[in-house]
Amino acid sequence: MSSFFTISLSFLLLFFFINLRSTESAAPTYLYNYCSNATRFAPNSTYQSNLNKLLSSLSSAAAAANNTNGFANATAGQNPPDRAYGLFLCRADVSASTCSDCVAAGTQDILQRCPNQRVSVIWYDECMLRYSNQSIYSVMDTVPSLMMYNTGNISDPTRFAQILGDTMDDIVARASGDESGKKAATAEANFTSLQKLYTLAQCTPDLTASDCNTCLQSVKSNLPSGKQGGRDFSPSCSVRFELYPFYNASAVAAPPPPPSQIPPPPPAPVTRPKGKSNKTTVIIIAVAVPVGVAVVLLFLACCFRRRKAAKTYEVAQGDESGVGDITDVESLQYDLATIQAATDNFSHQNKLGEGGFGEVFQGQLLNGQEIAVKRLSEGSGQGVGEFKNEVVLLAKLQHRNLVRLLGFCLEGEEKILVYEFVPNKSLDYFLFDPDKRRQLDWSRRYKIISGIARGMLYLHEDSRLRIIHRDLKPSNILLDSEMNPKISDFGMARIFGVDQTRAKTNKIVGTFGYLSPEYAMRGQISVKSDVYSFGVLILEIITGKKNSCSFQSDGGENLTGYAWKHWRAGTPLEVLDPSIGDSCSMDEVIRCLHIGLLGVQEDPADRPTMASIVLMLSSHSVKLPQPRRPAFFLQKSMERQLKELKSGESTGGSMPWSINEMSVTEVSPR
Ligand SMILES: *[C@@H]1O[C@H](CO)[C@@H](O)[C@H](O)[C@H]1NC(C)=O
Ligand SMILES: *[C@@H]1O[C@H](CO)[C@@H](O)[C@H](O)[C@H]1NC(C)=O
Ligand SMILES: *[C@@H]1O[C@H](CO)[C@@H](O)[C@H](O)[C@H]1NC(C)=O
Ligand SMILES: *[C@@H]1O[C@H](CO)[C@@H](O)[C@H](O)[C@H]1NC(C)=O
Ligand SMILES: *[C@@H]1O[C@H](CO)[C@@H](O)[C@H](O)[C@H]1NC(C)=O
Ligand SMILES: *[C@@H]1O[C@H](CO)[C@@H](O)[C@H](O)[C@H]1NC(C)=O
Ligand SMILES: *[C@@H]1O[C@H](CO)[C@@H](O)[C@H](O)[C@H]1NC(C)=O
Ligand SMILES: *[C@@H]1O[C@H](CO)[C@@H](O)[C@H](O)[C@H]1NC(C)=O
Repeated sequence: MSSFFTISLSFLLLFFFINLRSTESAAPTYLYNYCSNATRFAPNSTYQSNLNKLLSSLSSAAAAANNTNGFANATAGQNPPDRAYGLFLCRADVSASTCSDCVAAGTQDILQRCPNQRVSVIWYDECMLRYSNQSIYSVMDTVPSLMMYNTGNISDPTRFAQILGDTMDDIVARASGDESGKKAATAEANFTSLQKLYTLAQCTPDLTASDCNTCLQSVKSNLPSGKQGGRDFSPSCSVRFELYPFYNASAVAAPPPPPSQIPPPPPAPVTRPKGKSNKTTVIIIAVAVPVGVAVVLLFLACCFRRRKAAKTYEVAQGDESGVGDITDVESLQYDLATIQAATDNFSHQNKLGEGGFGEVFQGQLLNGQEIAVKRLSEGSGQGVGEFKNEVVLLAKLQHRNLVRLLGFCLEGEEKILVYEFVPNKSLDYFLFDPDKRRQLDWSRRYKIISGIARGMLYLHEDSRLRIIHRDLKPSNILLDSEMNPKISDFGMARIFGVDQTRAKTNKIVGTFGYLSPEYAMRGQISVKSDVYSFGVLILEIITGKKNSCSFQSDGGENLTGYAWKHWRAGTPLEVLDPSIGDSCSMDEVIRCLHIGLLGVQEDPADRPTMASIVLMLSSHSVKLPQPRRPAFFLQKSMERQLKELKSGESTGGSMPWSINEMSVTEVSPR
């Protein structure tokens, strides 16, 4: 079985990647941003209004039909000190619509992250957007530069370095000399019989060939060695390599052929990356002006000392001399007046609901952005500084399947968290309503299951923090206008200052029905406790039945028991929610049920990781291990032990199931 998971992991990157490409269109993948504090402007200044105009012209230029090169510049304002200059560049292979989506998101995002800086740049996987108070068009800029690498090591570093060096030289030369209007090049090279190297180099097309070459040489020299993947960006150019295809080769490599030519060959078959450690975690090192380097090194040294065991680190503090903070605290802070105005002073009409941590309101900011506001009830026991730090860390977590934390408000007694607004309520609203559940046909449910799996994988493995959600359940899955799932309420343990380092906790928080046995009974918390909750969630999505209620009087049997019985009896399709009808893929249903049952295994070691689950969902050729009897017979003794635990608890903390919607997540440094 362990070799199964090893293989699974190595396939994971590939499928995860393809999946992201093909099924999602909206949110771009945020990487980093830089905006120096030294270039602040005053609120309501002319620069601000010029900047707003600039961003909206960039956004429309990206959406315009003539945006074929994925690049445009714009200016706004007449008089030099207040004039704003901006441009964007999309990755050479992305489609016009992806480009336009990325730029549109970037123009919103950059104002959140750099609310009052004259000079800013933001990078996504799909595009780069920047502006300045000086002309940047045709100006080569190699600082700040940002290096990221894949933590997976390479098997034959010497040979790899040789191949990488040759390939990079090739694409740097081709990108610089590219006259097609894009200044980009890709190349593939064989590394081993199973591993292929993929590389991409790109400059903004306004540069001259020689500037482009200089810029690419500079970023190339920052690439890591001995790693399976790496990239380096500067405002004017970027290079990247990986052992998997991270770009759409057919979109870059093939400039439109003259009519008489033989059509280009179809894209090469994707080579499956092999090796044990295809970790997608990336490490960010930002280096700006040379004087900043010493400061960076000193700072990194501190980081390492502070968290000895941590494999990854962050550039957490900004510095005038160069290293930009990913997210300034100030850029995340809202004042109470703004929040009050947005929510009509927390009016009853704007109330969306009430969770374990306080009431949630809908609101609209002056710029039209819709938000959800969580007004925390008192007693978080967290100092102001720590609270801010946690918010900054959580705001950096960004994934299309996570509800985004936009900021916070801290004034007097008020502690408020501001989230993006997700329009379609939560999964339980649909799933457990006899009429509304009809809107969830199988393909939607399957998409929801896959989306939650990807969001959880990000929390567990791909973000720079390892987050155990601890309260995954349908009411914490919000649905956007296209019914894409977004996980909410993660990271609340950080906000509430729960001890983040212990794997064992005597303060159990979660919702009965979704708690794994080892967590509920012994307080043992791990990523596998989330896998258990996810297993229950899958079973609920398939059956449309609630684990906690529907089965209580049913001879002690619960949803997991019910699913298991049918699985054993060879009648898995009988558990399917009748309102789904016939329009579904039986294979997918059975596979999901199978995964659900693997998730609720009693022994955490028998439960797959989220990485394996994402793989199982995306590739139907992966063979799944047979599930064993799940943890359902424990129900009775579990309830009893929980009571004992409650009465014996000295901290006096209230137990979870008495507070219906209590939810806390746990974060630990990786
Ligand atoms: C741009 O802003 C910076 C800092 O605010 C200032 O020092 C510089 O002179 C400005 N440049 C122009 C061309 O206005
Ligand atoms: C900015 O302008 C708005 C209205 O245009 C005004 O209400 C607000 O007080 C101004 N803020 C500052 C700091 O001047
Ligand atoms: C695209 O069209 C707009 C007007 O529709 C024009 O202002 C702009 O210069 C064009 N851009 C390119 C790159 O041709
Ligand atoms: C792009 O920048 C150049 C140089 O600053 C300028 O002449 C041109 O007008 C800009 N294009 C737009 C659409 O602003
Ligand atoms: C890569 O190699 C370094 C140094 O040899 C080691 O510390 C690190 O743990 C390795 N990483 C992986 C993912 O194996
Ligand atoms: C890589 O290897 C395959 C067969 O293993 C071969 O067809 C292909 O031409 C090679 N590619 C390069 C760039 O050498
Ligand atoms: C890759 O690019 C080609 C050509 O632009 C396009 O037809 C194809 O749909 C793209 N594939 C993906 C997966 O985006
Ligand atoms: C930016 O400047 C403000 C003062 O204007 C200061 O309070 C803040 O700490 C600075 N931020 C960084 C990251 O240096």
